[in-house]
Amino acid sequence: MKLYFIDNKWTQEAYLPIEERAANFGDGVYEVIITYNKKPFKLDEHINRLFYSAREIELKIPFKKEEIKDIVFEGIKKLNQDSIKIYIQVSRGSYERIHEFPPEDVKPNFFIVFRVFKPIEDEIRYKGVKLFTYPDIRWARCDIKSLNLLPNVLAKQYAKSKGGFEALFIKNGKITEGAVSVFFAFIEGKLITHPLTNEILPSVTRSEVIDIAKELKIEVVERPIFINEIEKIEECFIASTTSEVLPVNSIDNYNFVIGERTLKIYKVFKERVK
Ligand SMILES: Cc1ncc(COP(=O)(O)O)c(C=O)c1O
Repeated sequence: MKLYFIDNKWTQEAYLPIEERAANFGDGVYEVIITYNKKPFKLDEHINRLFYSAREIELKIPFKKEEIKDIVFEGIKKLNQDSIKIYIQVSRGSYERIHEFPPEDVKPNFFIVFRVFKPIEDEIRYKGVKLFTYPDIRWARCDIKSLNLLPNVLAKQYAKSKGGFEALFIKNGKITEGAVSVFFAFIEGKLITHPLTNEILPSVTRSEVIDIAKELKIEVVERPIFINEIEKIEECFIASTTSEVLPVNSIDNYNFVIGERTLKIYKVFKERVK
């Protein structure tokens, strides 16, 4: 079940022109939000990040934050399902294919897709998932949630072809993040994750996990983890809007137990989204 908001209308059928900058250049930004019990989780944080991403690529979003929030609430009401994935995309508009920005009067293309969302089943979650490392061949602005996702597509497909769930990007020997998630590991009793730099997305779930860890009196250290530290990892997990807190049972050929601390963080996360 799905519903689109585009051109100020609600529809189940919509198309963008062939000459569209999202398709030609990936010239745009996006967000993914999910609902719990018909409420969008961390909506303000996602909308703020959308505006941050847009500002960083000099793209003006054709709505105010409050207007987008209203559209999101309306869409949730219209689709009327417990769990919905909301995809917001803004591109620099439709125009003949020139690399530089189109003229000022070309309007950005803004749309939202509302779709029924199926969360990962507990059976998979409690077994943990397999990660496969992949070179981080992305650009130098991974803090922007840009539509340019080719390296992420290739990485995720590589992981899938090996029977894995997610790829883990490695840059100069260090783990940056997953293709579609952030990475956390317990080392010497501390919870470690890559710091917020241009090399990773400022993940909404990452902030939530750090906050939960603080509540649980777990020390959090924001520093890169090097892949040659893998033997020191006691337990690890990935986190994102759609995967929540997801235990990892292996990275390449290296196996991990599904740890108690990871499951505790997941439990508190589930309490918070109730
Ligand atoms: C590269 C990357 N890192 C991290 C995340 C997790 O971000 P969030 O927790 O905001 O969903 C995503 C989500 O899609 C992502 O694509």
